[in-house]
Amino acid sequence: MSEQKTVWVTGASSGLGLHTAAALKEDGWRVIAGARSFEDGEADGIHRLKLDVTDEESIRRFCEKAQEIALPDALVQCAGMLVLGSCEETGTEEFRRVIDTNYLGMVRVNRAVLPLMRARGRGKIVLFSSINGLLGIPFQSAYTASKHAIEGYAECLAMEVKPFGIQVMLVEPGDHRSGSDKYRPHAAAMSETSPYAAEYERSVARIAHDEHNGSDPDVLGRKIARTLDRKRIPFRKRIASPDQHLAVYIHRLLPAKLNAAILRQYYTRKK
Ligand SMILES: NC(=O)c1ccc[n+]([C@@H]2O[C@H](COP(=O)([O-])OP(=O)(O)OC[C@H]3O[C@@H](n4cnc5c(N)ncnc54)[C@H](OP(=O)(O)O)[C@@H]3O)[C@@H](O)[C@H]2O)c1
Repeated sequence: MSEQKTVWVTGASSGLGLHTAAALKEDGWRVIAGARSFEDGEADGIHRLKLDVTDEESIRRFCEKAQEIALPDALVQCAGMLVLGSCEETGTEEFRRVIDTNYLGMVRVNRAVLPLMRARGRGKIVLFSSINGLLGIPFQSAYTASKHAIEGYAECLAMEVKPFGIQVMLVEPGDHRSGSDKYRPHAAAMSETSPYAAEYERSVARIAHDEHNGSDPDVLGRKIARTLDRKRIPFRKRIASPDQHLAVYIHRLLPAKLNAAILRQYYTRKK
């Protein structure tokens, strides 16, 4: 009988992280899940540990406790949030919070986990990017910047860790009906008197509509679990509806100004 494999999952208290952790558990993995809202313990067959990816000490404690349970064969990093707002009115601290959670959070956790994987000469690291890691949309600049950073970082990481038997996979989800509004605050300065108010409102409504009518998060979880079972995992795994696959494809082909016109029209047009 083969030994049970262990996966550590960040941001596993809600949304795609929760669904991915559940699918991995269903698939036979020992799952050690981290999130700020967790108390240390076990629920639904999943080990839960408190984890704040913006706090080095919290990451150190998480890794220490997780190692006592089992070393990671795989790490899945889902922790994330966004701030909605115009580039002009999103504050520096708001940009910092998004980058600190989405991008630097991943960097910190990887730095803590890589020595463990290197020592064993194997490991799989899955980083949650987004379609927004490939193209920008209006009023999501902090999030889009953080996901673009992850895309570039992952390319460097994959090349560096390959000699140690460690594989890296970027997951690029399109809209899924899983995200919680709690992690999508509006920039504090956005108000009805904003010069961007009308287009902002229409864009936010479009973003919310697409997410609420998005793909099934259980299917995404199962796809990741199936992929992680493979000996070799792909570097990129886009999990999106056909029209979002098409948007990425078109984005690559069309001149930048034409792309911008199409996306602007899609997000800001009057009904
Ligand atoms: N939903 C989508 O349509 C979609 C599309 C593309 C990409 N994604 C990506 O998928 C991932 C999950 O997003 P989601 O929208 O599905 O879930 P979500 O409901 O927004 O959940 C976010 C998760 O991140 C955790 N988190 C936030 N800040 C954290 C911190 N400082 N330390 C540790 N954990 C933290 C939250 O847990 P606590 O509050 O308990 O810490 C929660 O479990 C994100 O990386 C997101 O960018 C989602």
